[in-house]
Amino acid sequence: MQLLDGKKISQEIRNEIAAEVKKLKNKGKKVPHLAAILVGDDGASQAYVSSKVKSCQEVGFRSSLIKLKKDITQNELLTHINLLNNDDSIDGFIVQLPLPKHINEQKVLLCIAPEKDVDGFHPVNIGRMTLNIPCYIPATPKGILEILKRYKIETEGKHCVVIGRSNIVGLPISILLARKGYPGNCTVTLCHSKTENLKEETLRADIIIAALGKSEFLKANMVKKGAVVIDVGITRVEDETKKSGYRLSGDVDFDDVSKKAGYITPVPGGIGLMTVVSLLQNTLSAAKEEFYKKTLSFNVEEDF
Ligand code: GUN
Repeated sequence: MQLLDGKKISQEIRNEIAAEVKKLKNKGKKVPHLAAILVGDDGASQAYVSSKVKSCQEVGFRSSLIKLKKDITQNELLTHINLLNNDDSIDGFIVQLPLPKHINEQKVLLCIAPEKDVDGFHPVNIGRMTLNIPCYIPATPKGILEILKRYKIETEGKHCVVIGRSNIVGLPISILLARKGYPGNCTVTLCHSKTENLKEETLRADIIIAALGKSEFLKANMVKKGAVVIDVGITRVEDETKKSGYRLSGDVDFDDVSKKAGYITPVPGGIGLMTVVSLLQNTLSAAKEEFYKKTLSFNVEEDF
């Protein structure tokens, strides 16, 4: 079994991004600027956003954190989004999910200008991703593709089983791995809570993406020998031995599955770290106007 080391790979990518930022500075260009909106005081969301902001500082990006109260109205939130859409100093921004129940998440995501949507959640970016048109790819799936690529894992013709159909991970990664190209050209099965005989599906898989959000759900008896196992889960489980009172647990029973898998990502130290660097890569692309020219905005790009 080989460990797919998200810590090592994400550090490599951070170094590459930091070097690019230096180059931009030397050319007299401004450094990429990411903004994040955080609504409410959910502990996990606060931790994720802090780690995104800290990572920006580490690679030399500017960052702005906009913290809003959990009882903010939807219209007030949309006003903040509009300000960021129209603020030329900001290259890209994210609205950390989930949002409080009284806010319509879809409406919020629709209001983010696609050219600043570095999370890649806007329907324009999802549509472009699906059609293989250059765009921001959602950070977690992008991180999965990157780790497969850097470990040179063969994907063509492989049977990939994705467990979980969330808009953030399961759905986009199933599209990406089925696309033409590398990593891709997989035969993909997207499994979810209504799937019958899930074990039959996972046992046929060369690549398993576990993204259902259930701690230690995937066991060795559900995995074919030598399979590539990607664990997207990050659940906080109580642990009195930890100072924080909890530990992070993945969707894969690591000790069990690692005896059978060919490759496996750990939690922590796997896809979570890849997600953060993917957001940085998207922000760098936004600053370099790689996918959308600011002046053309919604028009079809000249160079595509
Ligand atoms: N919540 C969980 N994952 C993500 C993510 O990648 N982006 C945002 N904005 N919210 C999330």
